[in-house]
Amino acid sequence: MRTVVHLSDLHFGRTDPAILAPIITFVNNVRPDVVAVSGDLTQRARTREYIAARDFLHSLPSPQIVVPGNHDVPLRNIFARFVRSLDHYRRYITADLAPFYADAEIAIAGVNTARAFTWKQGRINRRQLATLRRQLMPVPENRTKIVVTHHPFDLPAGAEGRVVGRSRLAIRTLAECRVDMLLAGHFHIADTGQTAKRYNIPGYSALIVSSGTSTSTRGRGQPNSLNVIRIEAGTVAIERRTWQPASVRFDVLSIEKFERTNAGWVRAS
Ligand SMILES: [Fe+2]
Ligand SMILES: [Fe+2]
Repeated sequence: MRTVVHLSDLHFGRTDPAILAPIITFVNNVRPDVVAVSGDLTQRARTREYIAARDFLHSLPSPQIVVPGNHDVPLRNIFARFVRSLDHYRRYITADLAPFYADAEIAIAGVNTARAFTWKQGRINRRQLATLRRQLMPVPENRTKIVVTHHPFDLPAGAEGRVVGRSRLAIRTLAECRVDMLLAGHFHIADTGQTAKRYNIPGYSALIVSSGTSTSTRGRGQPNSLNVIRIEAGTVAIERRTWQPASVRFDVLSIEKFERTNAGWVRAS
């Protein structure tokens, strides 16, 4: 059995100070095998925001698979945006923009979808897909394969906007590698979906798990949330936890269970 804690859209610079100590305690108590953070670590890619995000990540268990989001690329300063896009991210968070973890049960790859040009929407490119193939193709079929991006492959329920750029190209690579689950954020809406709804690839459907913003005040009507994902021999349980400020707790909002079949993941009773 493996446990992955999935956090997203931390947005240091716009965090709720009341949530930081409890979320650190909560995640450490879960004792996850991996912590995945799907981007937007900062609000405006400022140095002080990056330092706060770095300190926060240091207080969580490792290994961690962290990817940047659009907010981690400077927006308004044109020189910083186009020339020094992820300099601060590399300096304060990690120089590894294609992080990868694998053990006897799971493999998790992170892909940087943040871009200076398509700032809001994000994108995947062919070089990144080649890296994914190199990382995930050698992983035996019986392991659960997970890919972490900031921008999602489908819109969470109620979201308006666009999915990650070149998603139709990328989904073919994900199918070739038999990726089981995609973790993402960006819309600050927690949701679970399947790739087969948007992409018609016979015999292939991966789970799409979105997280709300875990720590920021930019909840767009949803409470702060995170996912605790438990993976065991062809079954996945996605436990959504939401922040309850009154009781200072992360309560279980839902637990969704799925089983792997030849045609993809089906909901288990
Ligand atoms: Fe965000
Ligand atoms: Fe974002």
